[in-house]
Amino acid sequence: MAKIGFDIGGTNIAAGLISDEGTLLKKGSLPFPQDKDFEKVLSTCEQLVKALEEGNEPVESVGVAVPGSLDATASIVLNAFNLGFCNTPLKDILAERLGKKVFLINDADAAVLAEHRIGSLKGCTDAFMITLGTGLGGGLILNDKLYRGGRGHGSEPGHLILYNGGRRCTCGNDGCAECYCSATRLVTDGKSYGWTTAKAVIDAAKAGDDFATAIFNKYVDDISSYLASVINLLDPERIAIGGGVSAAGDFLMTPIRENTWRKVFFNERTDIVIATAGNDAGIYGAAFIAE
Ligand code: BGC
Repeated sequence: MAKIGFDIGGTNIAAGLISDEGTLLKKGSLPFPQDKDFEKVLSTCEQLVKALEEGNEPVESVGVAVPGSLDATASIVLNAFNLGFCNTPLKDILAERLGKKVFLINDADAAVLAEHRIGSLKGCTDAFMITLGTGLGGGLILNDKLYRGGRGHGSEPGHLILYNGGRRCTCGNDGCAECYCSATRLVTDGKSYGWTTAKAVIDAAKAGDDFATAIFNKYVDDISSYLASVINLLDPERIAIGGGVSAAGDFLMTPIRENTWRKVFFNERTDIVIATAGNDAGIYGAAFIAE
């Protein structure tokens, strides 16, 4: 029976109907309520389910990818700072609201799962992925399986500290990698020049603007330092880069590869590729965990 996968992000709530064979049959997306009102989040999810089920068999089970850490039973969202969720028992509330079984997963873990099953990490035994979006997401495949953490919280690679005493993160710490490697970093740095999206900064850099180029080069350098540290720790077979910023393609990937390889301890080069499940990776991964 088909499943619905949700990807709840700070900008949009996306959902897709995924067949048993893993094909995306239908997709929908609505804005995440900007006042972060929880009731509105629930009614948005309800609307999306209705739209996806129209003309199709009702589904019994829904997977939900959320941009935050979960408790060990994957029932409570402990902290999803970019959504304003804190100790939110989302699994039970959503299950009651939708009248369906609900399964939760971290959004980046969902993306890793999707990449491992159907995308760029297929066939890898030990791999790492980052998603460059509002936040910096990341997850690991270790021993052919999604790494769930020693205490069931998974990993939060966006909150590795890249700069001691650096920029203030939404999590309350200073200097997290997320402050330097997410799309939000490009928006923050580009704002005073009139660029309000990561894409606008990248497009200006592509067009040769000096200020945009300086912002972009620093961004690439920070991502590369981060990835070099990850490679030194894990020696992954492959690293996938996903999220909205990865749409910049080779313009982003080529300097990231060169920079990272220069900084890494090992002589052998780690394969660094663009995630292929694209923006739907979260939806797929969420549907894959729905039973
Ligand atoms: C959150 C992660 C999430 C990432 C991407 C981070 O701020 O802590 O759990 O995966 O953003 O959404």
